[in-house]
Amino acid sequence: MLHGMGPGRQADFVAGRRAAARALDALGRAGPVLREGRRPLFPPGVRGSISHCVGHIGACVATTNPAVAAVGIDLERTDRLTWGTTHLICTPREARWAAAARRPESRLSVVFSAKEAVYKALSALSPHRRPLFHDSEIKISGKRLDIRVSGDLLPPGHDIFGWALLIPGGYVLTFTAVTIRRHTSIRSGHQPSFHFLAETQKAV
Ligand SMILES: CC(C)(COP(=O)(O)OP(=O)(O)OC[C@H]1O[C@@H](n2cnc3c(N)ncnc32)[C@H](O)[C@@H]1OP(=O)(O)O)[C@@H](O)C(=O)NCCC(=O)NCCS
Repeated sequence: MLHGMGPGRQADFVAGRRAAARALDALGRAGPVLREGRRPLFPPGVRGSISHCVGHIGACVATTNPAVAAVGIDLERTDRLTWGTTHLICTPREARWAAAARRPESRLSVVFSAKEAVYKALSALSPHRRPLFHDSEIKISGKRLDIRVSGDLLPPGHDIFGWALLIPGGYVLTFTAVTIRRHTSIRSGHQPSFHFLAETQKAV
């Protein structure tokens, strides 16, 4: 799969696949993680997502929980975006939330990362159209992401939500999960346990 990739891209790819191998190992499942177009193709029964970031750090979230239809993960630097890109990424409410911070660019990165994680989760469900930045609105309370997406993007009976973690060194890691409302564990009022596994590591 490394064929045709430049050295930087190869290191990113390897970092992502290493994180995925460790996440699968923790789930007791064998790899490899293949590709379907640009999307990662996890072994049957596993929903997973991969991200990598400058410095060749890889991250993966994977689950076998049947209540989870899709997951998305994104790792970004918090110093990458300039305020001038806000209108491309944020809804007016998100822009107001970011602007209220001591470092608005950092909050902008959190919103951007969350939307990339939303994109990956929705794209795993093969929606009929590509989600756009303004198709989702993210509300951040602590580590929890409340996510609203345009009505036609989420299949009926599904919900989406997520988490954001600020990581020392200037990174933000976001996860999203699409859950199936009618699934027994959710119908019976139990908070599903997702067994999310995130692995970050430097490629050697
Ligand atoms: C696909 C995309 C999300 C990748 O994000 P990125 O920040 O460039 O790169 P990341 O390191 O975070 O993620 C790369 C990994 O995402 C995964 N990926 C790529 N395309 C994907 C897709 N369509 N769905 C799910 N996962 C995908 C791959 O595993 C890839 O790593 P690999 O090629 O080594 O296997 C991004 O390039 C993109 O197209 N974003 C859409 C922009 C947009 O319109 N967003 C709207 C938000 S709702």
